[in-house]
Amino acid sequence: MIPVILSGGSGSRLWPLSRKQYPKQFLALAGDHTLFQQTLQRLSFEGMQPAVLVANQDHRFIVQEQLDGIGLEAQSMLLEPFGRNTAPAVAIAAMQLVAEGRDELMLVLPADHVLKDQRAFQQALALATIAAERGEMVLFGVPAERPETGYGYIRGQVDGNLPDGISRVAQFVEKPDEARARQYVESGDYFWNSGMFLFRASRYLEELKHHDVDIYDTCLLALERSKRDGIAVSIDPATFACCPDNSIDYAVMEKTARACVVPLSAGWNDVGSWSSIWEVHDKDKNGNVTKGDVVVQDSHNCLVHGNGKLVSVIGLEDIVVVETKDAMMIAHKDRVQDVKKLVNKLDADG
Ligand code: GDD
Ligand code: MG
Repeated sequence: MIPVILSGGSGSRLWPLSRKQYPKQFLALAGDHTLFQQTLQRLSFEGMQPAVLVANQDHRFIVQEQLDGIGLEAQSMLLEPFGRNTAPAVAIAAMQLVAEGRDELMLVLPADHVLKDQRAFQQALALATIAAERGEMVLFGVPAERPETGYGYIRGQVDGNLPDGISRVAQFVEKPDEARARQYVESGDYFWNSGMFLFRASRYLEELKHHDVDIYDTCLLALERSKRDGIAVSIDPATFACCPDNSIDYAVMEKTARACVVPLSAGWNDVGSWSSIWEVHDKDKNGNVTKGDVVVQDSHNCLVHGNGKLVSVIGLEDIVVVETKDAMMIAHKDRVQDVKKLVNKLDADG
């Protein structure tokens, strides 16, 4: 099995700590190692080959430094000149494997998630392998517990042709609006899509060719015209610029008839926002999470993240405070999804 690590996101909801030049996957947001390093460390068990990394060209040296930091080597590093979202990123990895004569199962993993229970992860993977070997497109589903609008929602149904414990995907809805998300959670029948997938490389390519032939054709050409330097493959910018921007979820997983879902209860968290950073950390007796030189008085359920200066807060509830060298952000925990909007505005304002 070949892990394919997607590491091209910009993590804008974790501004001001996560920046385009140094996004969240390369930060130690949950433990001593960075999220990217933890993702790779999670894969050191039998049967797992060295990873294929798909990252932005600008992060090439950060990626190398972080690999060196944990003494691991990658199988190859596919470097995108700019992001075109996950459908092309996975396509290029699959095409590269097929071209090398290694049409094996690929385990697609985001570089920026937390999984607390390694045993449960490996058990889910063992079950998923049986289905993927039969040509299924496997999604790992986390039982949905809140109406998050940033996730894909999956409803499974029993299918006698699948191994016990695996269901056929009856419905996949990527990023529903809040009313629908609430309905899904209340029904108790839905999983969140964890963003991790398992399928054979050629199966993904067949599905992609069927559902989005423009991405398929452009990626094939962009890879053919790429420049190689050791394990690094720089994707041709002029060709890749013509590639449509789409996620694997919209382009393939919502559409394929061969999707199935393996339940994953392994303490998964996509650490996508400051409230999930608060969630994954141990708290003091008042529910506060602090990092750096921080003094917290009469405050509850706050996240206070100092990064150089002394940060002190008094009488706050459910507030996130993040200080960095050049920016400071203070937000209510219920509003941290809007950090993305703020970053977009800052970008637009130049
Ligand atoms: N190489 C590369 N290139 N990686 C990318 C690109 C790209 O252009 N765009 C995103 N990624 C990486 C991100 O770094 C992340 O690790 C992963 O692919 C998923 O992308 P996100 O942008 O974080 O997706 P999302 O959070 O909006 O939604 C996905 O994940 C949710 C769970 O976290 C979907 O799969 C949802 O259905 C899912 O619930
Ligand atoms: Mg994400």
